[in-house]
Amino acid sequence: MNQEISVSEKLKSLLSKGTKVVVLTGAGISAESGVPTFRGEEGLWKKFRPEELATFDAFMANPELVWEWYEYRRKIIEDIKPNPGHLALIDFQNHFDKFDLITQNVDGLHHQAGSENVIELHGNIRRNKCIQCGKKYESLEGTIEGIPPKCPCGGNIRPDVVWFGEMLPQDAINYSFAVSQDCDLFFSVGTSAVVHPAASLPLIAKRGGAYVVEINISPTEITHIVDESLFGKSGEILPSLVKLFK
Ligand code: OAD
Repeated sequence: MNQEISVSEKLKSLLSKGTKVVVLTGAGISAESGVPTFRGEEGLWKKFRPEELATFDAFMANPELVWEWYEYRRKIIEDIKPNPGHLALIDFQNHFDKFDLITQNVDGLHHQAGSENVIELHGNIRRNKCIQCGKKYESLEGTIEGIPPKCPCGGNIRPDVVWFGEMLPQDAINYSFAVSQDCDLFFSVGTSAVVHPAASLPLIAKRGGAYVVEINISPTEITHIVDESLFGKSGEILPSLVKLFK
């Protein structure tokens, strides 16, 4: 459903080819694909305790439980498809001369939609890695069994995601800071903007002089600092924005 939306003249004028654009996405962009968010009424953190499931200590204390929780989440995303919000970002990529897409999501839906060079700040739930030798596993199918699976080196294999208390991939966060600081137009899409350092990116963009727009179904922590809020579903708003330049 691509409805007309009302946006400022400033935003309209910034939707031109030469504008340097950065988009930061969070769980909300995948909500319309059927992926649960973390903090809403139906959010994962309403039903589960992050400290028991999404920390390295939790994995060391109870690797079976943590592994099974990630298997449960992988099952949820097994058959899901990108929604019109993810797809609209392909039009963004094709339209703007300089475009960067940064996501906090681990579901891989931006890749699946066809986005290139996606910066995955929190890793990817489909990928795994050994806690001992660091070997990455794109797929474990038919090779390694057990819960949790064991690497040939003897180490436990864990999901290749960032847990609470862990560092983000250094290159990814450095690059994200740099492009946010340097862009003209920054979109914060479907994120509650409470988990740092990702949540700092809109603020860094603003400080660097960018026009900051948020797209969300409800107000967030950064609503008072952004230049423009577009309230509604990202699967409807992003395609409506595409219509303004396509
Ligand atoms: P949250 O669950 O905190 O926030 C999701 C946001 O999406 C909320 O602000 C919702 O209002 C909004 N939303 C829901 N449906 C939407 C829709 N259809 N269109 C637009 N907005 C919608 O998720 P994140 O901000 O992504 O980290 O959470 C950040 C991090 O916290 C996650 O990456 C994860 C989590 O703990 C780790 O696991 C390290």
